[in-house]
Amino acid sequence: MIPKVRKAVFPAAGLGTRFLPATKAQPKEMLPLVDKPLIQYGVEEAIHSGVQNIIIVTGRNKSSIEDHFDVSFELESLLEDKGKTDLLKLVREISELIDVAYVRQKEALGLGHAVLRARDLVGTEPFAVVLSDDVIHSEKPCLAQLLDVYQYFGASVVALLEVPEQAIPAYGIVDAEPIAHNGVNDRVYRIRNMVEKPKPEAAPSRLAIIGRYVLTPEIFGSIEAIDPGAGGEIQLTDALKHLLRSRPIYGLRFEGKRYDAGDKLGFLQATVEYALRREDMGGPFREYLKSLDLG
Ligand code: UTP
Repeated sequence: MIPKVRKAVFPAAGLGTRFLPATKAQPKEMLPLVDKPLIQYGVEEAIHSGVQNIIIVTGRNKSSIEDHFDVSFELESLLEDKGKTDLLKLVREISELIDVAYVRQKEALGLGHAVLRARDLVGTEPFAVVLSDDVIHSEKPCLAQLLDVYQYFGASVVALLEVPEQAIPAYGIVDAEPIAHNGVNDRVYRIRNMVEKPKPEAAPSRLAIIGRYVLTPEIFGSIEAIDPGAGGEIQLTDALKHLLRSRPIYGLRFEGKRYDAGDKLGFLQATVEYALRREDMGGPFREYLKSLDLG
Protein backbone atom coordinates (compact mmCIF):
# COMPACT_ATOMS: atom_id res chain seq x y z
CA MET A 1 0.00 0.00 0.00
CA ILE A 2 1.27 3.45 -0.92
CA PRO A 3 1.20 5.63 2.22
CA LYS A 4 -0.97 8.76 2.10
CA VAL A 5 0.58 12.21 2.15
CA ARG A 6 -0.66 13.95 5.30
CA LYS A 7 1.91 16.69 5.83
CA ALA A 8 3.05 19.71 3.86
CA VAL A 9 6.22 21.70 4.53
CA PHE A 10 6.27 25.41 3.71
CA PRO A 11 9.82 26.81 3.57
CA ALA A 12 9.50 30.50 4.39
CA ALA A 13 12.95 31.37 5.66
CA GLY A 14 14.50 32.75 2.47
CA LEU A 15 15.91 36.25 2.41
CA GLY A 16 13.63 37.44 -0.39
CA THR A 17 16.33 39.70 -1.80
CA ARG A 18 14.45 40.15 -5.09
CA PHE A 19 11.72 41.93 -3.17
CA LEU A 20 13.71 44.30 -1.01
CA PRO A 21 12.95 46.62 0.69
CA ALA A 22 9.46 45.10 1.27
CA THR A 23 11.13 41.97 2.67
CA LYS A 24 13.47 43.77 5.03
CA ALA A 25 11.21 43.33 8.05
CA GLN A 26 8.73 40.72 6.87
CA PRO A 27 9.01 37.45 4.96
CA LYS A 28 7.96 37.63 1.31
CA GLU A 29 5.43 34.88 2.09
CA MET A 30 3.42 37.58 3.92
CA LEU A 31 3.14 39.90 0.90
CA PRO A 32 -0.58 40.24 0.15
CA LEU A 33 -2.03 39.22 -3.17
CA VAL A 34 -5.07 41.53 -3.25
CA ASP A 35 -5.89 40.97 0.45
CA LYS A 36 -4.44 37.60 1.42
CA PRO A 37 -0.79 36.80 2.13
CA LEU A 38 0.92 34.51 -0.37
CA ILE A 39 1.37 31.78 2.23
CA GLN A 40 -2.37 31.58 2.89
CA TYR A 41 -3.01 30.78 -0.79
CA GLY A 42 -0.47 27.95 -0.45
CA VAL A 43 -1.96 26.65 2.80
CA GLU A 44 -5.46 26.68 1.28
CA GLU A 45 -4.15 24.77 -1.76
CA ALA A 46 -2.64 22.14 0.55
CA ILE A 47 -5.87 21.80 2.54
CA HIS A 48 -7.91 21.47 -0.66
CA SER A 49 -5.49 18.73 -1.72
CA GLY A 50 -6.22 16.72 1.42
CA VAL A 51 -3.21 17.65 3.55
CA GLN A 52 -3.87 17.53 7.32
CA ASN A 53 -0.72 19.01 8.86
CA ILE A 54 1.12 22.17 7.94
CA ILE A 55 4.75 22.70 8.90
CA ILE A 56 6.18 26.14 8.27
CA VAL A 57 9.95 26.66 8.25
CA THR A 58 10.54 30.19 9.45
CA GLY A 59 13.60 32.39 9.59
CA ARG A 60 14.14 35.88 10.92
CA ASN A 61 10.97 37.97 11.09
CA LYS A 62 8.92 34.84 11.68
CA SER A 63 6.39 36.43 14.01
CA SER A 64 4.09 37.85 11.34
CA ILE A 65 3.51 34.37 9.89
CA GLU A 66 2.80 32.84 13.30
CA ASP A 67 0.50 35.72 14.22
CA HIS A 68 -1.36 35.39 10.95
CA PHE A 69 -2.36 31.77 11.56
CA ASP A 70 -2.92 32.28 15.29
CA VAL A 71 -6.09 33.42 17.07
CA SER A 72 -6.19 37.19 17.50
CA PHE A 73 -8.39 37.74 20.57
CA GLU A 74 -7.95 41.51 20.55
CA LEU A 75 -8.91 41.92 16.92
CA GLU A 76 -11.79 39.45 17.23
CA SER A 77 -13.33 41.19 20.23
CA LEU A 78 -12.92 44.59 18.57
CA LEU A 79 -14.70 43.38 15.44
CA GLU A 80 -17.36 41.72 17.60
CA ASP A 81 -17.96 44.96 19.55
CA LYS A 82 -18.29 46.90 16.32
CA GLY A 83 -20.71 44.31 14.91
CA LYS A 84 -18.43 43.64 11.91
CA THR A 85 -19.51 40.03 11.56
CA ASP A 86 -18.26 39.53 7.99
CA LEU A 87 -14.75 40.61 8.91
CA LEU A 88 -14.90 38.60 12.13
CA LYS A 89 -15.74 35.48 10.11
CA LEU A 90 -12.86 36.19 7.73
CA VAL A 91 -10.37 36.57 10.57
CA ARG A 92 -11.62 33.50 12.49
CA GLU A 93 -11.53 31.31 9.39
CA ILE A 94 -7.76 31.72 9.13
CA SER A 95 -6.98 30.40 12.61
CA GLU A 96 -9.55 27.64 12.17
CA LEU A 97 -8.05 26.53 8.83
CA ILE A 98 -5.71 23.94 10.22
CA ASP A 99 -3.13 23.38 12.95
CA VAL A 100 0.25 24.74 12.03
CA ALA A 101 3.60 23.66 13.46
CA TYR A 102 6.73 25.77 13.16
CA VAL A 103 10.39 24.96 12.91
CA ARG A 104 13.23 27.42 12.66
CA GLN A 105 15.96 27.72 10.07
CA LYS A 106 18.42 30.03 11.82
CA GLU A 107 20.42 30.85 8.73
CA ALA A 108 19.22 30.88 5.12
CA LEU A 109 21.52 28.09 3.94
CA GLY A 110 19.30 27.02 1.06
CA LEU A 111 15.99 25.37 0.24
CA GLY A 112 17.35 21.85 0.79
CA HIS A 113 18.59 22.88 4.22
CA ALA A 114 15.19 24.42 5.04
CA VAL A 115 13.42 21.17 4.13
CA LEU A 116 15.86 19.17 6.27
CA ARG A 117 14.90 21.33 9.27
CA ALA A 118 11.39 19.81 9.05
CA ARG A 119 12.67 16.25 9.34
CA ASP A 120 11.68 15.64 12.98
CA LEU A 121 8.15 16.92 12.36
CA VAL A 122 7.72 14.96 9.12
CA GLY A 123 9.12 11.66 10.41
CA THR A 124 9.39 8.74 8.02
CA GLU A 125 6.38 9.37 5.83
CA PRO A 126 6.01 10.96 2.38
CA PHE A 127 5.27 14.68 2.45
CA ALA A 128 4.60 17.68 0.25
CA VAL A 129 6.70 20.82 -0.11
CA VAL A 130 4.98 24.05 -1.14
CA LEU A 131 6.87 27.23 -2.03
CA SER A 132 4.20 29.81 -1.55
CA ASP A 133 5.88 32.45 -3.70
CA ASP A 134 4.94 30.23 -6.63
CA VAL A 135 1.23 31.02 -6.83
CA ILE A 136 -0.77 28.67 -9.02
CA HIS A 137 -4.25 29.30 -10.32
CA SER A 138 -5.87 26.10 -11.49
CA GLU A 139 -9.17 24.27 -11.51
CA LYS A 140 -7.79 21.32 -9.59
CA PRO A 141 -5.16 22.38 -7.02
CA CYS A 142 -1.65 21.84 -8.39
CA LEU A 143 -0.65 19.85 -5.31
CA ALA A 144 -3.67 17.57 -5.75
CA GLN A 145 -2.54 16.93 -9.36
CA LEU A 146 0.91 15.93 -8.08
CA LEU A 147 -0.59 13.72 -5.38
CA ASP A 148 -2.51 11.75 -8.03
CA VAL A 149 0.79 10.94 -9.75
CA TYR A 150 2.40 10.07 -6.40
CA GLN A 151 -0.49 7.72 -5.57
CA TYR A 152 0.02 5.93 -8.89
CA PHE A 153 3.79 5.44 -8.70
CA GLY A 154 4.49 5.68 -4.96
CA ALA A 155 7.57 7.77 -5.75
CA SER A 156 8.62 11.43 -5.51
CA VAL A 157 6.99 13.86 -7.94
CA VAL A 158 7.97 17.42 -8.88
CA ALA A 159 5.93 20.11 -10.65
CA LEU A 160 7.26 21.01 -14.10
CA LEU A 161 6.77 24.14 -16.16
CA GLU A 162 8.07 24.89 -19.63
CA VAL A 163 9.99 28.18 -19.37
CA PRO A 164 11.40 30.49 -22.08
CA GLU A 165 15.07 30.02 -22.87
CA GLN A 166 16.21 33.24 -21.19
CA ALA A 167 14.57 32.13 -17.91
CA ILE A 168 16.46 28.82 -17.73
CA PRO A 169 19.35 30.04 -15.49
CA ALA A 170 16.85 30.84 -12.72
CA TYR A 171 15.61 27.27 -12.32
CA GLY A 172 16.39 23.63 -11.72
CA ILE A 173 16.01 22.07 -15.19
CA VAL A 174 15.21 18.42 -15.87
CA ASP A 175 16.23 15.90 -18.46
CA ALA A 176 13.04 13.87 -18.67
CA GLU A 177 11.20 11.48 -20.91
CA PRO A 178 7.43 11.68 -21.26
CA ILE A 179 5.60 8.53 -20.27
CA ALA A 180 2.65 7.85 -22.51
CA HIS A 181 -0.31 5.59 -21.80
CA ASN A 182 0.63 4.94 -18.23
CA GLY A 183 -2.84 5.29 -16.85
CA VAL A 184 -2.18 8.76 -15.46
CA ASN A 185 -2.04 11.23 -18.36
CA ASP A 186 0.24 12.63 -21.07
CA ARG A 187 1.77 15.27 -18.84
CA VAL A 188 3.81 12.84 -16.79
CA TYR A 189 7.57 12.44 -17.20
CA ARG A 190 10.15 10.10 -15.79
CA ILE A 191 13.14 12.17 -14.80
CA ARG A 192 16.56 11.06 -16.00
CA ASN A 193 18.65 13.88 -14.61
CA MET A 194 18.43 17.45 -13.38
CA VAL A 195 20.69 20.46 -13.13
CA GLU A 196 20.37 23.56 -10.93
CA LYS A 197 20.49 26.93 -12.69
CA PRO A 198 22.25 25.89 -15.94
CA LYS A 199 23.27 28.17 -18.77
CA PRO A 200 20.68 27.88 -21.57
CA GLU A 201 23.19 26.16 -23.89
CA ALA A 202 23.94 23.53 -21.23
CA ALA A 203 20.29 22.91 -20.29
CA PRO A 204 18.88 19.45 -21.10
CA SER A 205 15.38 20.89 -21.75
CA ARG A 206 13.18 23.89 -21.02
CA LEU A 207 11.26 22.02 -18.32
CA ALA A 208 11.83 23.75 -15.01
CA ILE A 209 11.05 22.47 -11.53
CA ILE A 210 8.78 24.90 -9.74
CA GLY A 211 7.57 25.13 -6.16
CA ARG A 212 5.44 22.04 -5.59
CA TYR A 213 6.94 18.69 -4.64
CA VAL A 214 5.80 15.37 -3.21
CA LEU A 215 8.80 13.72 -1.61
CA THR A 216 9.49 10.35 -0.08
CA PRO A 217 11.37 10.53 3.25
CA GLU A 218 14.63 9.23 1.69
CA ILE A 219 15.13 12.81 0.50
CA PHE A 220 16.38 13.74 3.98
CA GLY A 221 19.34 11.36 3.67
CA SER A 222 20.09 12.83 0.24
CA ILE A 223 20.03 16.38 1.58
CA GLU A 224 22.49 15.35 4.27
CA ALA A 225 24.73 13.67 1.72
CA ILE A 226 25.19 16.61 -0.65
CA ASP A 227 27.57 19.56 -0.54
CA PRO A 228 26.52 23.17 -1.02
CA GLY A 229 25.83 23.89 -4.70
CA ALA A 230 24.81 26.95 -6.72
CA GLY A 231 25.15 30.15 -4.68
CA GLY A 232 26.86 28.21 -1.88
CA GLU A 233 23.41 26.92 -0.77
CA ILE A 234 22.22 23.40 0.03
CA GLN A 235 19.98 22.99 -3.00
CA LEU A 236 16.91 20.75 -3.05
CA THR A 237 17.54 20.06 -6.74
CA ASP A 238 20.98 18.63 -5.90
CA ALA A 239 19.39 16.39 -3.25
CA LEU A 240 16.78 15.20 -5.77
CA LYS A 241 19.59 14.42 -8.19
CA HIS A 242 21.27 12.38 -5.46
CA LEU A 243 17.97 10.59 -4.73
CA LEU A 244 17.65 9.71 -8.43
CA ARG A 245 20.60 7.34 -8.06
CA SER A 246 18.51 5.01 -5.91
CA ARG A 247 14.84 5.95 -6.53
CA PRO A 248 12.74 6.96 -9.52
CA ILE A 249 11.44 10.54 -9.60
CA TYR A 250 8.56 11.70 -11.74
CA GLY A 251 7.60 15.12 -13.06
CA LEU A 252 4.17 16.49 -13.87
CA ARG A 253 3.58 19.32 -16.32
CA PHE A 254 0.64 20.51 -14.25
CA GLU A 255 -2.48 22.20 -15.56
CA GLY A 256 -2.87 25.78 -14.40
CA LYS A 257 -1.25 29.20 -14.51
CA ARG A 258 1.74 29.88 -12.31
CA TYR A 259 2.94 33.29 -11.16
CA ASP A 260 6.41 33.93 -9.75
CA ALA A 261 5.22 36.16 -6.93
CA GLY A 262 8.71 36.29 -5.39
CA ASP A 263 9.66 38.54 -8.29
CA LYS A 264 8.30 42.08 -8.57
CA LEU A 265 6.96 41.77 -12.11
CA GLY A 266 5.45 38.32 -11.44
CA PHE A 267 3.87 39.66 -8.29
CA LEU A 268 2.26 42.55 -10.18
CA GLN A 269 0.93 40.18 -12.84
CA ALA A 270 -0.56 37.95 -10.16
CA THR A 271 -2.10 40.94 -8.38
CA VAL A 272 -3.80 42.20 -11.55
CA GLU A 273 -5.13 38.80 -12.58
CA TYR A 274 -6.30 37.77 -9.10
CA ALA A 275 -8.06 41.13 -8.70
CA LEU A 276 -9.76 40.71 -12.09
CA ARG A 277 -11.00 37.25 -11.04
CA ARG A 278 -12.54 38.54 -7.82
CA GLU A 279 -16.32 38.75 -7.76
CA ASP A 280 -16.33 41.72 -5.42
CA MET A 281 -13.94 43.93 -7.38
CA GLY A 282 -13.25 42.33 -10.77
CA GLY A 283 -15.82 44.52 -12.61
CA PRO A 284 -14.72 47.96 -11.36
CA PHE A 285 -11.05 46.99 -11.57
CA ARG A 286 -11.48 45.96 -15.22
CA GLU A 287 -13.18 49.31 -15.93
CA TYR A 288 -10.29 51.12 -14.26
CA LEU A 289 -7.70 49.21 -16.32
CA LYS A 290 -9.63 49.96 -19.51
CA SER A 291 -9.62 53.64 -18.67
CA LEU A 292 -5.81 53.78 -18.56
CA ASP A 293 -4.13 55.34 -21.55
CA LEU A 294 -1.37 52.80 -22.08
CA GLY A 295 -0.01 54.46 -25.17
P1 UTP B 1 14.09 31.53 -3.34
O1 UTP B 1 14.94 30.81 -4.27
O2 UTP B 1 12.95 32.32 -3.90
O3 UTP B 1 15.04 32.45 -2.44
O4 UTP B 1 13.53 30.50 -2.28
P2 UTP B 1 14.74 33.63 -1.46
O5 UTP B 1 15.99 33.85 -0.68
O6 UTP B 1 13.51 33.41 -0.64
O7 UTP B 1 14.42 34.87 -2.39
P3 UTP B 1 15.38 35.75 -3.32
O8 UTP B 1 15.75 34.89 -4.48
O9 UTP B 1 16.56 36.18 -2.49
O10 UTP B 1 14.53 36.92 -3.72
C1 UTP B 1 12.53 29.57 -2.60
C2 UTP B 1 11.77 29.20 -1.34
O11 UTP B 1 12.64 28.59 -0.40
C3 UTP B 1 12.60 29.27 0.83
C4 UTP B 1 12.09 30.65 0.52
O12 UTP B 1 11.46 31.23 1.64
C5 UTP B 1 11.13 30.38 -0.63
O13 UTP B 1 9.87 29.92 -0.16
N1 UTP B 1 13.98 29.25 1.40
C6 UTP B 1 15.06 29.53 0.61
C7 UTP B 1 14.16 28.94 2.73
O14 UTP B 1 13.19 28.67 3.48
N2 UTP B 1 15.43 28.92 3.24
C8 UTP B 1 16.52 29.18 2.47
O15 UTP B 1 17.65 29.14 3.00
C9 UTP B 1 16.32 29.50 1.13
